Amino acid sequence: MTGRRDHDLLRVAAIGGDGIGPEVVSASLPAIIEAATCEQVRVEVTELDWGGDRLLRTGRAMPLDATEVLRCHDAVLLGSVGHPDLAPDVSVWTLVLALRKALDLYVNLRPVRSFPGVPSCLRDAGGVDFVVVRENTEGEYTGAGGRVHQGSLDEVATDVAVHSRRAILRVARYAFKLAQARDQTVTLVTKSNVSRHGYALWDEVVYEVGETEFPDVPLEKSYVDAMAARLIERPASLGVLLCSNLFGDILSDAAAPLIGGLGMAPSANLAPDTDGPGMFEPVHGSAPDIAGKGIANPLACLLSGAMMLRSTGLERAADALERAIIRALASGRARTRDIGGRATTVEAADAVRAALAAGEEDRALAP
Ligand code: NAI
Ligand code: MG
Repeated sequence: MTGRRDHDLLRVAAIGGDGIGPEVVSASLPAIIEAATCEQVRVEVTELDWGGDRLLRTGRAMPLDATEVLRCHDAVLLGSVGHPDLAPDVSVWTLVLALRKALDLYVNLRPVRSFPGVPSCLRDAGGVDFVVVRENTEGEYTGAGGRVHQGSLDEVATDVAVHSRRAILRVARYAFKLAQARDQTVTLVTKSNVSRHGYALWDEVVYEVGETEFPDVPLEKSYVDAMAARLIERPASLGVLLCSNLFGDILSDAAAPLIGGLGMAPSANLAPDTDGPGMFEPVHGSAPDIAGKGIANPLACLLSGAMMLRSTGLERAADALERAIIRALASGRARTRDIGGRATTVEAADAVRAALAAGEEDRALAP
């Protein structure tokens, strides 16, 4: 849980970002705000126009004091980045990766959970319920590397994967605690049969922590290539996947079709045991192919909103929002095209909000 300063107020910084990001964030906020009222908590939203358009207009995707601005909030809700007029790495490095680093959000938590009524790529995928715990600060994402002899045949490009004992330790402890709470196995995903340095360190550190600090939590290891197959063959056998930054990114996208696709996959960027804000965002990107059409699935954003409520201590509000999502999906009214329905972004989010209101009324009337 992150530190919420006020008992009856939740300060949320909302960054729509690029492409479908602003569409899913603005559609989702009313239901998130309404969910918080069931704990008598008011949500105060600061809308921030950070992202590609701002960068093209002013030369910066975010203001210089972006970190301080966010630290005045209890949580950040982010849509997605990826502007069509910018190189993809520019969008990513000037906003989402910059914020994960600046706020030291070292855990990227990505639940993979199926919802009734949502089609899966598998005929029998009922009961998928595992989480990817992705290290969020290192690996291939530090920016270490470079290019020399550019343009010549001798050109060389390197991206250096960086893995430190400190970063592995802290994310491993988080994964073990989560597995303890969920009563599940930690599956460590590496490639130490080939990467003999970085992933060997992962194996060493995670087994050390497991044996000394969490002897009660079952631990197993899988190479990432084998895990890619297991995700599809036996998803119900998975509990907590502990992954490096790159492997966690790839495997969580690979797992999304099990639960209806990227429109259904939420995530939380967390700095556990600190009082800084977490950042909550759908797994998907800016989806330029459907941006501006009003058909993006808002559920990944709404589910990220539920993770935001839970992680700021609003457990009952998070439960209420998730129950409403389940009801609205089951009725078909929250199903956008990607999950076999016809609802627009706004209609799907409104259906969740309506289910929330109806559900809370039912609970109030229940004996
Ligand atoms: P993407 O996730 O944006 O889209 C992949 C496919 O999934 C597309 O066909 C898209 O229409 C579909 N899709 C994604 N979200 C959806 C939703 N909510 N509802 C319905 N369909 C949805 O990935 P892509 O195309 O590889 O990347 C586009 C841009 O986004 C790139 O610039 C990339 O760098 C950026 N990106 C940003 C991320 C972030 O903000 N955290 C994460 C992934 C990519
Ligand atoms: Mg990704």
